[in-house]
Amino acid sequence: MLAGARVERGFSPQRVLQHPPVLGLTRTANYLSCGQIGSIEISSISSLRALLSDGVVRGLSIIVRLGSASMPPLLLSAQSKNVACPLCLVFSVAAMLSAQSLRELGDARGVHVGSAVNPSHLAEPEYSATLAKEFSQIEPENAMKFGPIHPAPGNYNFGPADEVAQFARSHNQLLRGAVLVWHNQNPSWVTGGKHTPEQLSSILRDHIAAVVGHYAGQVYAWDVVNEAFTAGGKLRSTIWYDSPGIGLSGTGYVEQAFRWARSADPKALLFYNDYETETINSKSDAVYAMARDFKSRGVPIDGIGFQMHLTRETERVGRMEANIRRFTALGLQVQITELDVRLPLDSGNLASPRALARQAKIYRQIVELCLKFKQCTAVQTWGFTDKYSWIPRTYPGKGDALPFDSGYKPKPAYEGIVAAFKSRRPKQP
Ligand code: XIL
Repeated sequence: MLAGARVERGFSPQRVLQHPPVLGLTRTANYLSCGQIGSIEISSISSLRALLSDGVVRGLSIIVRLGSASMPPLLLSAQSKNVACPLCLVFSVAAMLSAQSLRELGDARGVHVGSAVNPSHLAEPEYSATLAKEFSQIEPENAMKFGPIHPAPGNYNFGPADEVAQFARSHNQLLRGAVLVWHNQNPSWVTGGKHTPEQLSSILRDHIAAVVGHYAGQVYAWDVVNEAFTAGGKLRSTIWYDSPGIGLSGTGYVEQAFRWARSADPKALLFYNDYETETINSKSDAVYAMARDFKSRGVPIDGIGFQMHLTRETERVGRMEANIRRFTALGLQVQITELDVRLPLDSGNLASPRALARQAKIYRQIVELCLKFKQCTAVQTWGFTDKYSWIPRTYPGKGDALPFDSGYKPKPAYEGIVAAFKSRRPKQP
């Protein structure tokens, strides 16, 4: 399990850590200085390759013996012509290079690892290969929303979401559905139709019956209602609630949507989904009061989705634990449904190494948070590659929010997720 290596003069641990290609480095300990021994944990073959090839440690002569519980030891060697310095470095690789994907790590610990998906990218080999390899759950980013899937009265456009469903089937992934009731991405025939509450009620009832019915047996969990509350904990004014609404007061329209969804597919899990509800605040208090009321009256709700569109200033993740606990105590599942951590970009559209490290820590903490609760059943990111993230379009100057960069290389955030999973023992099979 040891590797001996010589490293060129001028090598410094900082340089390695800050060097963008060396994205696989997750942890360092007892770094060497000249003549000393240190250790680095590397978590993938590609990170080792990056380390060898990127010039930071050019002039390296290395022999690495690898092994882990799940993989027999293996010998790698790379020779260099130009060994300049007698420094000696020991790579500690006991738990490394087992090359487990995120989905394998999550499966072994009872957590689905999901991503939002855009069907128009599925034809791109790197996109589909990464999605298939790393994720055990997928959800259309837009294709199941009211406008895209029901663009005209009585006209359903199931094609794009069906492609996502087909991909999930072919790759043994769970399919998550979003969203049936929301104030955004509704078609103009609904928003501009000057309908009465009775008409809107039957439009929504028919929509839920048709969409949930179409995916019955395919979608295992639906976000039924999205973002019904304001930051202050009031019900948001939406076409479904009060402008003109479907004719029900308070959370009545939310309840009605859950009841319609349950009758369209009695087996699907039904979630309420929202943002900035991950800590205890006015909004999460309102969601909690609604969920408690629904549970006490037998309204069919199974879980709460926490979107988690986070920033690097995100409050200490420790503060989220008490909030998650109060929802699980109601007998609800929780899922993290839209995780991303947006970062400021410089003029070259790059985030700083420091910001990327902070981001990795947040990803790690969020996955660790989920792992604390057996009722936390999924961690899903909102897309997986920075190439197609919604962030730069929505938050100009921000980006780099996801675990894979635009070239599909795992970022420190990816390693943060890996480290979180590895900090928990796999369940016995
Ligand atoms: C976003 C999509 O990512 C964008 O492509 C689209 O233009 C707008 O919607 N909260 C949600 C998601 O619940 O549905 C949103 O998705 C992001 C914020």
